[in-house]
Amino acid sequence: MTTPMLRLDAVSKRFTRLPNLGERIAGWLGAGDGSQTVHAVDDVSLEIAPRETLALVGESGCGKSTLGRLAAGIYTPDHGSVRLRGQPVMATTGRPRKITTKVQTIFQDPFASLNPRMRIADILAEGPLAHGLVKRGDADGYVARWLTQVGLDPGFAGRYPHQFSGGQRQRIAIARALAMQPDLLVCDEPVASLDVSIQAQILNLLVELRRELGLTCLFISHDLGVVRHVSDRVAIMYLGRVVELGPTAEILARPRHPYTQALLASVPRLRRSAAEAESFRPIRGEIPSPLAPPPGCHFNPRCPMAIERCRREAPVLTAAPDGRAVSCHLAPTG
Ligand SMILES: Nc1ncnc2c1ncn2[C@@H]1O[C@H](COP(=O)(O)OP(=O)(O)OP(=O)(O)O)[C@@H](O)[C@H]1O
Ligand code: SF4
Ligand SMILES: [Mg+2]
Repeated sequence: MTTPMLRLDAVSKRFTRLPNLGERIAGWLGAGDGSQTVHAVDDVSLEIAPRETLALVGESGCGKSTLGRLAAGIYTPDHGSVRLRGQPVMATTGRPRKITTKVQTIFQDPFASLNPRMRIADILAEGPLAHGLVKRGDADGYVARWLTQVGLDPGFAGRYPHQFSGGQRQRIAIARALAMQPDLLVCDEPVASLDVSIQAQILNLLVELRRELGLTCLFISHDLGVVRHVSDRVAIMYLGRVVELGPTAEILARPRHPYTQALLASVPRLRRSAAEAESFRPIRGEIPSPLAPPPGCHFNPRCPMAIERCRREAPVLTAAPDGRAVSCHLAPTG
């Protein structure tokens, strides 16, 4: 079996918010210490094969960006390991620090991610020069090559970010990431902040680049239409855990987890027939607070199939012989 490009093994990440003054005073009066802990990512194991695109999907706050940042070595896991081609992405001794440049990230907001005081040529050449991917004398040609690759005129290299539209800036952010010659590209909602008319252009660019360059991607999105377009496999997340994993087309056509079923039913444009249109329902209930997730299966207060066992025992993500995996006490396994 080939070594996965990315492997997450039982990865968890918690954030603890320190109490504000009022909460500290309440703490002195005996109401706990006021600090609050979120299990943003809770015991997640995943693999991405070379040249594969895996999408991460789920409602806001379920831990997608945290998982993406763990994969990119931006965050250190509290537990578990993150490996790229079998090697840790974080230093395992001394101060925690990212030790690979081979994972690059494209964020949602291209306005925030480009330094407004730098010319495009410098934005694109800075990392490759610092890491010896290109010599100074070849930098102009290198920048021109990546601008062309993302569909921009290389003559733009002397301009500044404010001289570009949102879509063009996202192309520049993509070129900057690719110029580092990454093994893995983490795309965190890369089109969510763009006009709808521009979104398709950027998605098509990513699909083309992926095919031409053989990229491996972790693609984060809350939009199932986008996910259907770009990904080979999809991981559905709910409150920090992966609840369903498998080939995108199969999961979207025949979801097995009650949460995936509810998520699909809540997306009108993915409905396939009038009969399904009539069965449209928003997911019932609110997302529970991630500060106090329900015990057992986190989905149990919203799940129409919940049984008593669901309230006390967390289901485990279990692989079926067909390569799909589901985390539900009642899900079929074949
Ligand atoms: N730096 C942080 N400090 C404290 N809590 C955080 C931090 N980053 C994320 N969280 C919390 O962790 C949980 C997961 O957040 P995350 O941003 O990973 O979710 P998400 O699925 O990307 O959401 P969205 O779709 O809104 O981008 C949330 O409850 C969030 O409030
Ligand atoms: S484990 Fe129980 S509550 Fe959770 S999704 Fe399955 S049936 Fe619903
Ligand atoms: Mg996010």
